[in-house]
Amino acid sequence: MVNLEVNFCGVNFKNPTVLASGVLGVSGESLHEVVENGAGGVTSKSIWLEGHKGHKNPVIIATDNYVVNAVGLSDAGIEKARNEISEYKKQCDAPLIANIVASKIDDFAEITKKISELNVDLIEVNISCPNVEVEFGRPFACDIKSASEVTETVRKNTKTPFSVKLSPNVDNIGEIAKACEESGADAITAINTVGPGMRINIEMRRSILKNKVGGVSGHAVFPIAIRCIHDIYKNVKIPIIGTGGVSTGEEAIEMMIAGASLIGVGSGVYYRGIKVFSHITEEMNAWCDKNNVKNAQDLIGSLLD
Ligand SMILES: Cc1cc2nc3c(=O)[nH]c(=O)nc-3n(C[C@H](O)[C@H](O)[C@H](O)COP(=O)(O)O)c2cc1C
Repeated sequence: MVNLEVNFCGVNFKNPTVLASGVLGVSGESLHEVVENGAGGVTSKSIWLEGHKGHKNPVIIATDNYVVNAVGLSDAGIEKARNEISEYKKQCDAPLIANIVASKIDDFAEITKKISELNVDLIEVNISCPNVEVEFGRPFACDIKSASEVTETVRKNTKTPFSVKLSPNVDNIGEIAKACEESGADAITAINTVGPGMRINIEMRRSILKNKVGGVSGHAVFPIAIRCIHDIYKNVKIPIIGTGGVSTGEEAIEMMIAGASLIGVGSGVYYRGIKVFSHITEEMNAWCDKNNVKNAQDLIGSLLD
């Protein structure tokens, strides 16, 4: 029997898979459904202090090899999220990670206070979305000083453990993770989407996405995610939620060997449906059995030089 349980920042997950932010989790009910289909935990989409519109349709291109999205962090704001979170908690005791976002430091302070009142298990701080640059400028995650400032602000305003979600679109993700650790983060999530990327409808000679560009995820970003997690693992002692291109048990195991403790799954839902979580855990079980691994936690950071 393989033990897939992971203790992450003092919170117990029955297996390492978690729904990545923004992909399915829009209501308490849909988050619950993800858990019923085998996820060890769920992450909400990014929650703003006030409602946020997002981009116009079409906002998504899903192909066999990658997904490009320009959803643009649409959300109804913290008051609506409050109801969804309480709905989820009534139905389900699998850990809930509440992902928060803001465009300025003061708003991060405010949303952190508000989300902490809701007794969520963990907070994930999104400072790395690449497709809202036109509205808000370079993401905080692209610069050590800005990433540290947000992290310090969140730390001052909550006792709940929190993870800072980083961008792969930098050349020093390990250093940025280290700065977040020194500024009080309990964990790091990596990666957010890559890019932005763009596709063109050649008959129309127009970009397929209304927003022109969007963040790239899915199979194509898996090697980038593995390298980022490896860089982060070498630089910090806090645990990592590894995310990016995972849709099989073997990929989840590779990501744990690179240094991840939990595995976020987003685009994998497009490839294998909502059952992707139970498929991944079954495949992890089979691999661990075959390779004589009794505890999935023993895989974390087990890469040899
Ligand atoms: C449609 C879509 C919406 C997303 N929305 C969010 C979001 O609201 N907040 C966030 O932090 N990340 C968001 N992401 C990024 C994912 O959480 C994840 O970091 C990224 O897609 C890489 O993982 P994947 O390859 O498993 O999808 C979104 C991704 C997709 C595809």
